[in-house]
Amino acid sequence: MSSTQMNSLDLTHPPKASEFSDEIVARFAREVAKYPNDQKQSAVMACLSIVQQVNGFVSPGDELFLAAYLEMPPMAVHEVSTFYNMYNLAPVGKFKINVCTNLPCQLRDGQTALDYLSKKLGVGVGGTTKDGLFTLQPGECMGACADAPVMLVNDRTMCSFMSTEKMDQMIETLSALKDDGVQS
Ligand code: FES
Repeated sequence: MSSTQMNSLDLTHPPKASEFSDEIVARFAREVAKYPNDQKQSAVMACLSIVQQVNGFVSPGDELFLAAYLEMPPMAVHEVSTFYNMYNLAPVGKFKINVCTNLPCQLRDGQTALDYLSKKLGVGVGGTTKDGLFTLQPGECMGACADAPVMLVNDRTMCSFMSTEKMDQMIETLSALKDDGVQS
């Protein structure tokens, strides 16, 4: 879990559980139906993904809703949402870029790539550009250590061997998509 990903689930002053439309609850139900009746909690990752697709990020209130819906402790939902980098626990830009900074990538310019993008975009690590287009975050091992420096765009698109030229090209390409309906 990245510190930039952490939200606060204050169980002493819990937020109000979010509300979802019947349509979204039906999507949760379809995920729950894939598991035996006494294992509803197995759908937690899929339900968190649905919340993120709908809202762009997962809030503490969303976690409380899912905890009640899936009949599991709120902290158990929070443990899942904070364990995986793919869940956004705060609003992010249209393009979220995670640069792998684990040791094997560190040894092959992972940190240099993160620093380069930070300077190029004019945003600190964990931050979002003023135009709301890019969020820059460090990432955990993406299973492509031999391809370092590597980065993931919007949790889906893996970019390998990212030289400064390739990073420049990537930012240029994504910037040109700023008005397209790309979902994070
Ligand atoms: S350490 Fe970066 S992909 Fe494995």
